[in-house]
Parts: sequence; structure tokens; C-alpha cells
Amino acid sequence: MEDKLYYSYNDIHNICVEKANTIKKEFVPDVILAIGGGGLIPARIMRSVLDIPIYVVSLSTYDETNNPINEPIIVQWMDFSKLRNKKILVVDEVDDTRKTIEFLVNKLANNEEISEENLGIFVLHNKKKDKVIGINNLSISYYNYGEMVENKWIVYPWD
Ligand code: G4P
Ligand code: MG
Repeated sequence: MEDKLYYSYNDIHNICVEKANTIKKEFVPDVILAIGGGGLIPARIMRSVLDIPIYVVSLSTYDETNNPINEPIIVQWMDFSKLRNKKILVVDEVDDTRKTIEFLVNKLANNEEISEENLGIFVLHNKKKDKVIGINNLSISYYNYGEMVENKWIVYPWD
């Protein structure tokens, strides 16, 4: 049995376009908030369908010497007042432990101008495994993924 899952740019493109069309009807976002690095390419592909601005924050769960760390660290942040009263679609490539998503959603939800109702998440891949938090316990009103996958290492075309 293959121990890794491989995806091509074409696979990623097809997932993003299909799901962006669904999200356009179901959640109707005003802006995309991409989580760099992995969320950048999916966010840009989805923008071709959604036709809305892309904002970016960059987070990492690896330190300067490439060792995994427990809490995501902020590589680059943004002024959340720009997101006031907007429906925000957060885009990342993978929901693995869910630490990154939990971290960002908590930071967003801490702002008075950003309500739970205005927060949605999209990830290309949701891994079947135990997560640090359940979707129902996040301050979001929408969650969608491209594919649910086994708990294996995913190799993206940009890796
Ligand atoms: P999560 O909160 O998004 O669920 O993920 P978690 O922090 O547990 O993931 C740690 C890092 O490992 C993240 O990278 C995530 O994108 C990456 N990752 C997890 N599983 C896979 C996988 O199967 N394949 C690949 N290629 N990456 C995976 P990061 O620190 O956010 O870096 P970046 O690559 O997004 O810049
Ligand atoms: Mg990432």
C-alpha cells in the first residue's frame, strides 16, 4: 500500500474550482483569507471563481531550523480591521491536527467586528485523525473540504 498521497497541479485546480462553485452558493464569502504557505495557491485558484479580494497571513509550525513546534508561529500578520463585517473564507491546504486553524480562528474571533457567522473555512484535504478541537467548537459558521483523506503524508505539487 502506498504510504504517501500524491496530487498534481491539475488535481488541485479541479478540487479548487469545484468547491469554489459550491462555496459561492453556500457561504457567499466577501474575501478570502489565505494561510501561507500552503493556502496561497489554492486561494488564488479559487479567486478565479469567487472574484473577491485575497488577504494573507503566514503561519508556520516549524522553527528556523525546521524542527516541528507545538504552537503555530506568526510569520506575517495583517490588520484585521480590513475584514470588519465581511464574510471571510479562510483557505489552507490541509486540516491535519487542526492547530493552525484553531489558532487563526481564535485570533479572528477575538475581534469584535468579526462574528462567528462571518467566518468560514475551506481546506483542500481533511485528514481522518484525532483533531485538537472539533469543528462545532470553533467560532465558525461554515466548514468545507475538497477531500477527506487517510492519515498519510500528502505530497503537493509545490512541495
Ligand atoms: P493544521 O493545523 O493545518 O491541521 O496542520 P498542522 O499545524 O498540524 O500542520 C503542521 C504543518 O505540516 C503545516 O505546515 C501543514 O501544512 C503541514 N502538513 C500537515 N500534514 C501535511 C501533509 O500531509 N502534507 C504536507 N505537504 N504538509 C502537511 P505549515 O507549517 O503551515 O507550513 P506551510 O507548508 O503551510 O508553509
Ligand atoms: Mg500551512
